[in-house]
Amino acid sequence: MSNVQLNSRTGAIALSDRVGRISVSSTLAVMMEAEKLRAEGADIVDFGAGEPDFPTPDNVKEAAIRAIRDNFSKYTAAGGTSEVRAAIAYRHATDFGTSYAPAEVIATAGGKQAIFNLISCLINPGDDVLLPVPFWVTFRDVINYAGGRAILVETREEENFDLTAEMVKEALTPRTRLVIVNSPSNPSGAVIPAPELERILEVTANHGALLLTDECYCHFLYEDKPFSVAALPGAKEHVAVVGSLSKTYAMTGWRLGYALAPAPVVSAMVKLQSHSTSNPSSIAQKAAVEGLTGPQDSVQVMLKEYHRRRDFVIERLHGIPGVTCTVPRGAFYAYPNVAAFLHSGDHPGAKSGGTASPNEMAKKLLREAGVAVVPGEAFGTEHHFRISYATSMENLAEGLRRIKRFFSEQTH
Ligand SMILES: Cc1ncc(COP(=O)(O)O)c(C=O)c1O
Repeated sequence: MSNVQLNSRTGAIALSDRVGRISVSSTLAVMMEAEKLRAEGADIVDFGAGEPDFPTPDNVKEAAIRAIRDNFSKYTAAGGTSEVRAAIAYRHATDFGTSYAPAEVIATAGGKQAIFNLISCLINPGDDVLLPVPFWVTFRDVINYAGGRAILVETREEENFDLTAEMVKEALTPRTRLVIVNSPSNPSGAVIPAPELERILEVTANHGALLLTDECYCHFLYEDKPFSVAALPGAKEHVAVVGSLSKTYAMTGWRLGYALAPAPVVSAMVKLQSHSTSNPSSIAQKAAVEGLTGPQDSVQVMLKEYHRRRDFVIERLHGIPGVTCTVPRGAFYAYPNVAAFLHSGDHPGAKSGGTASPNEMAKKLLREAGVAVVPGEAFGTEHHFRISYATSMENLAEGLRRIKRFFSEQTH
């Protein structure tokens, strides 16, 4: 006799309410659909994947090979070795001027695990979390999973999706425990200028809410200087930094991220991690130490190339009649507005005969033009899709040529 609990009405296996509150990451859904078409022989240009097309730097690879040869293959402390935690604190101190003690650092299996742990440790059912729109999809799902309520803070596209302290202040509720910022932003590439981030911190700290700053793209800035709000005097007790080696060192598959936060928060995160994944991979930790403390030239090489691609993509997008796009100041995404091709009718200039939503449009673009993009619904907006330009110039030129042709056919 099975002891799996079945729903008495439908006969289906009853899953938890928690997991019912989240959905499959739509970024992954697009990648899977593109992969399927490719396996059937279709020629797909993939602008969906949010990961560097560069290989992991050689010095990092060599450090991992050494770790394997040295049999560094046992469990480590759940929150990472003291060596990797010191390396994380060292890099942050060197780049931004912060000063974090080992008890304020946790190494995780990717930035995603840091976010998951952090939100799980801070949010009770019914707590509010402020989330600026457009947002990276995982934030909303993890808030929902934790039983929190995501309070969406609308930014204005005409103002480059800039988040201001005023917007944060207006959105605060008595139950706001956490405010999330992600600068540079995935998906819009918006960057919060340092003085504004300082004002946002003032607002959140006065309210008694923690500021979660996702710095996963902090080294990929085209106009601004790298900056961490955690470096401001007195900031540390009001801030939780989440970071990752995924993008900075082209290490998405290695799964190494981190958080820097007040010691009680970190120790709760370590406790949770000790019962879920335990430590991040011991080999990846050794590789991370080399990435964080070794030469940083590869980051500058990638930044220069992303900058070149950013300029190219924006110029091409601006050359498509009906498409508008704010200029991203960081990360490696463009977030074009395609409202003119949607027939929802709630915006001036909408064409008849178009598709109803970015979701439908992305499917059509994939099937008819062979280009994979992520529809804006995933990021909380209704008139956009996201293009990742972490791919070769050749792919960018071909994909944008296809997109231009696709839209010229939509309007005729
Ligand atoms: C804004 C943002 N934060 C965090 C992450 C987490 O990346 P990882 O789990 O690979 O470190 C990503 C990945 O796409 C991201 O875009």
